[in-house]
Amino acid sequence: MKIAVAGGTGTIGQLVVAAADEAGHETVVLARSTGTDLRDARELEPKLRGVDTVIDVTSTGTMSTARAVEFFGTVTSNLLRAGRAAGVGHHVALSIVGALEVNASYYAGKAAQERMLLSQPGGYSLLRTTQFHEFAAQMVQRMGRGPVQLAPIMLSQPIAGTEVADELIRLAESGPEGEVADLAGPREEKMPRMVKAYREASGSPARVLAVPVPGAMGKAMRDGSLLAGQGARLRTLTFDDWLAGQQH
Ligand SMILES: NC(=O)c1ccc[n+]([C@@H]2O[C@H](COP(=O)([O-])OP(=O)(O)OC[C@H]3O[C@@H](n4cnc5c(N)ncnc54)[C@H](OP(=O)(O)O)[C@@H]3O)[C@@H](O)[C@H]2O)c1
Repeated sequence: MKIAVAGGTGTIGQLVVAAADEAGHETVVLARSTGTDLRDARELEPKLRGVDTVIDVTSTGTMSTARAVEFFGTVTSNLLRAGRAAGVGHHVALSIVGALEVNASYYAGKAAQERMLLSQPGGYSLLRTTQFHEFAAQMVQRMGRGPVQLAPIMLSQPIAGTEVADELIRLAESGPEGEVADLAGPREEKMPRMVKAYREASGSPARVLAVPVPGAMGKAMRDGSLLAGQGARLRTLTFDDWLAGQQH
């Protein structure tokens, strides 16, 4: 099948493209760095002609509620509208466990994206997962400064990106399922420990300062609101085993 991966150059997007290739699917990557700004609806429809499924794994770095809502709202609406016009039968979106309930800061964007999908008559699958193991590496990139590394105070039940990518491809192959059961990793972790272990494994150990993220989003990160709830499907690869298999 032909799969368009929106955000196919990102952390999870690259893994989705690799999993699609592995399964023998044809992929089209939609990202600014490959010539498609998804906030701009013009010329999107021709790029989606012949595509069976769109997998949306785009993201933005903003923590502003207004900017996050604008980004995810615009990208989702552009993809849905152009997809309908081009005859795409299935839109698969990836969200975050707890984002809809927290509905603040970056998560307000994810909540807007979820609400837009949930209001569709069909033709979509919505998967929510916990943070990826790769989130620790993202924190190192975004909050690391030399020998001192900041890490958010955060409880998570992280999952390997490859296990998320496999599930997104399974959904693409199965057809629209609407809201599906959440997906999470095997055990609870504290983000500062993950970040410290990641720095050590990559040969640049650091003093890790655990910092509270302000606002409702930060509170949810600290109080367990982002952990896997009842009914979540748990995958098997632990953070430590994932880290041991990484090449730094
Ligand atoms: N990270 C996690 O732990 C986690 C956990 C659960 C769910 N999620 C969800 O998974 C999704 C992907 O997250 P990620 O961490 O993999 O993101 P990421 O690494 O930041 O990648 C973001 C992708 O979006 C693309 N993009 C950004 N702005 C764009 C635009 N205007 N037009 C087209 N493409 C654009 C980027 O490519 P260009 O820069 O080239 O445009 C990149 O390919 C997000 O929706 C996130 O909420 C993440």
